[in-house]
Amino acid sequence: RWLVDKHLDNQKSYPQLAEAAQFLQQNEVVAFPTETVYGLGGNACSSDAVAKIFAAKGRPADNPLIVHIASYPQLDGIVADISDKSKQLMNAFWPGPLTIIFQKKEGAVSDLVTAGLDSVAVRMPDHPVALELIKESGLPIAAPSANRSGKPSPTTANHVMEDLDGRIAGVVDGGQTGVGVESTVIDCRGEHPIILRPGGITKEAIEAIIDKVEMSTSVVDKEEKPQAPGMKYTHYAPSAPLYLVEGTPEWIQSIVNEKTKSGMRVGVMAASETVGEYDAHTVLDCGSRSDLASVAHHLYDVLRKFDETDVDVIFSEVFPEEGVGVAIMNRLDKAAGHKWLRQINHS
Ligand code: TXA
Ligand code: MG
Repeated sequence: RWLVDKHLDNQKSYPQLAEAAQFLQQNEVVAFPTETVYGLGGNACSSDAVAKIFAAKGRPADNPLIVHIASYPQLDGIVADISDKSKQLMNAFWPGPLTIIFQKKEGAVSDLVTAGLDSVAVRMPDHPVALELIKESGLPIAAPSANRSGKPSPTTANHVMEDLDGRIAGVVDGGQTGVGVESTVIDCRGEHPIILRPGGITKEAIEAIIDKVEMSTSVVDKEEKPQAPGMKYTHYAPSAPLYLVEGTPEWIQSIVNEKTKSGMRVGVMAASETVGEYDAHTVLDCGSRSDLASVAHHLYDVLRKFDETDVDVIFSEVFPEEGVGVAIMNRLDKAAGHKWLRQINHS
């Protein structure tokens, strides 16, 4: 159901959000825009509400959720301790796409939110609709991305409806999200802060505020084989198998030709600079190589667009792993299930 069926961009107040806030207070689940991707929100203090989030997404119960807040008093209500480094990061990046892991306050949020861990992930989103909805509900809001588990995260209200229509109380339409990839998740409880998931705030930006941070080994080591194959390790994925191809456009086109000859309908995802060099069944532009923020902005929408075509296989160009490119390549690698093709001697 569309709780708000008009884009809510650029308004001064949001009386339209009253119904959505009421659903949250009644422990129903509601999708809403944030600056990164759409979230599927529910009362973080209600196991009933949180169970509905997991059920609607088909999400494994061992994957904890991020709690979204709109004020600092809300943070004090759910965490037991705030380290100095966390404070510095909050000052620098909240509201914004940075999720911080804290020691949780026992009994404050549902144990389902934290999947039994002694920590809780929190962020204050930088989106007027999200902030207003949280304020209006008066609750800390647990919210994973509002997609079916395994699918690309939603960057429009339409994406949410594709995945969750009939499974949730409704969606608030705030137009297309800005950043396009999820928040950066960081844990600075210990001596060495560690980025658990790269995202909208870059490692460089964080290191400008606090000293050296590490990137989780599972992010750095793409060759690392998952313990077991299967759905658990495929995320953000379109329906057709996706391969990441590192090489010249000529070399990539030769692979496309080979597959086309064997009777396959081939999709190609390429940067604006090289998109014109491909001849395939479906060729989609995912933004400029010289503006990686634009690639992040378009990434999930383009991955979903391939599902509207009848391609049998998708080849995607790769992007430099610098700045937000680290998050882009992390998501693409997962979407591809770690399948890479590399041109020999290509640098
Ligand atoms: O941008 C975002 O972060 C979006 C919007 C809706 O805010 N949300 C989002 O949520 O991406 P989700 O559930 O799709 O991803 C949450 C990530 C997962 O990788 C989860 O494992 C991690 O945060 N996480 C949550 N709680 C954690 C905890 N206590 N310790 C470590 N990781 C945690
Ligand atoms: Mg997600």
